[in-house]
Amino acid sequence: MLIKLAKTTALIAVASCALNAANFNAQAEKDRVELVKYFEAKFADPYANKGSFFPYSTDDELQNNFEKGLKFADFHLGSYSYAIDAKKTYEPLTEFPPYEFNVEKGESLFNKAFANGKTFADCFGEPAVGDKYPHFDEKRGEVVSLTQAVNECLTSNGEKEWNTQKGDMADLQAYINYTTMEAGKVINVEINSQAAADAYERGKEFYYTQRGYLNLSCAECHVQGTGQRVRNEKLSPLLGSVTHFPVYRLKWQGMGTLERRMSGCVKDQGQVPSKDTSNEMKELLFFMTYMSNGMKIDGPDVRK
Ligand code: HEC
Repeated sequence: MLIKLAKTTALIAVASCALNAANFNAQAEKDRVELVKYFEAKFADPYANKGSFFPYSTDDELQNNFEKGLKFADFHLGSYSYAIDAKKTYEPLTEFPPYEFNVEKGESLFNKAFANGKTFADCFGEPAVGDKYPHFDEKRGEVVSLTQAVNECLTSNGEKEWNTQKGDMADLQAYINYTTMEAGKVINVEINSQAAADAYERGKEFYYTQRGYLNLSCAECHVQGTGQRVRNEKLSPLLGSVTHFPVYRLKWQGMGTLERRMSGCVKDQGQVPSKDTSNEMKELLFFMTYMSNGMKIDGPDVRK
C-alpha cells in the first residue's frame, strides 16, 4: 500500500513537472499576443481611433499620413510601417542600400582566418544564424546575445574583442543577418525553463519602468507613444523593433548594432546605459526579441 502510494505521488510529481515545462513561456506568449492585438487595433484605422489611441495627433495627420489596416507582419519597418511621409524618404534609400558595402565587408570578416587559422565558421557553422540569438543558455543560466557570441568566438581563438556597437562587429552582423534573411528565417525565441522565464520578466520590467529626468519608460514611447511625433521623428512600435538590425544610420554615417540604438535611447532618457553584454542589456534584448516572435528577420536596414 505504502509503495503504491509512493509510486502514485512520484507519478503526480512527474506529471506536474511536465505540465510546468510546457508552460514556461505562458506569460510571455500572453504578452506577445496582447501586443500584436494592441498594434493591429491601434493601426486598423488611426483617424477613427483618434480618441482611444492618438489624442495628440491632428486630424490632418491621421487622415493623410497614416497607413490603415496594418497586420502583424507589416510592423517590421519601424515607423516606416505606418508613416506615409517617412516612408517616402526611406524608399529611395533602399534602392542603393548604403549597407551593401558593410555586408560585403562582413562576409570577408566571416571567412578571414584568425591568427590560429580558424574562422568564425568554427564557432557558428554557417553564417545564417541570426535567428538563433538572443537565446537563453540553460547551462550558463544566462541570455547569450549575438554580440556576445561574436566576442566570445574572438577571445576563445586568442583574438581581441571588438567594439560592441560599430565597425567590424556591425559589419559582421550585417552579413549574418543578411544571410539569415535570405534563408527566410523567422524570429523564434524560446523560453523553456523558470530561469529563462525570469530573465524575460526582468527584461520586460526594464522596458516598462519609468526612469530618467523625463520619467519615461521605453513603452511610453514605443507602445503607447507609437505614432506620436518626437522632434522630427515618428515613434516606432515595439512589435518588429529588432527584425532589421544592424542598421546604417544617416546620423551615424555608418552601421550600428541594436545595442548601439538601445543604449542611445537609454542615454536619451538621461540614464547611463549598462554594458552591451551585461545581463540587464541582454535580458532587455531577450524580452524585445520575444515580442517579435514569428516575424521574418530582415536586416540590415537604413534609418535616418
Ligand atoms: C522619449 C521617447 C523615447 C524613449 C523613452 C525611448 N525611445 Fe527608443 N526611440 C525614440 C526615437 C525618437 C527613436 C527614433 C524613431 C523611431 O524609430 O522610433 C527611437 C528608436 C528606437 C529604436 C530603433 C527602431 C528602428 O526601427 O530603427 C529602438 C530599437 C529603440 N528606440 C529602443 C528603445 C528602448 C529599448 C528604450 C528603453 C530603454 C527606448 N527606446 C526608449 C524615442 C524613445
